[in-house]
Amino acid sequence: MARDLGGEKNTASRAEMFIGARTEERLYFLDECAAIADCHIATDDGSRGYKGFVSEMLRERLQTMSQQELDSLCFYNCGPEPMVHAAVAVQKEFCRDDQIHNAIDYMTKCGVGICGACNAPDGRRLCVDGPFLSNSPN
Ligand code: FES
Repeated sequence: MARDLGGEKNTASRAEMFIGARTEERLYFLDECAAIADCHIATDDGSRGYKGFVSEMLRERLQTMSQQELDSLCFYNCGPEPMVHAAVAVQKEFCRDDQIHNAIDYMTKCGVGICGACNAPDGRRLCVDGPFLSNSPN
């Protein structure tokens, strides 16, 4: 998505990625990400980048933006449910629900919408309704 939607390097439309992990050893594909977006890295233990949760680093970045910049943002959150919920809580402090899209790592099994293993709490199935679900189901 960053490759398709992100702008050229050193332009205002360049995509930004906020990447978080427990430790530096849990960070993957950083070179590939850096090739297509401006990357902000956080680790819980501070072994690389910002020390703390990626959602806290995101809040600090959003606090530097003008209302016009905030109004133009679109968020695509990917990862485990607690991290996505934390990121959404921060994003909702600054932006509208329709700017926020989520791909939570629900367990998938059949992959074709039959078994229900990948159901989000509102019943949408990640395998056929996703991978990104809007923050508000309607
Ligand atoms: S994995 Fe079975 S419904 Fe999505």
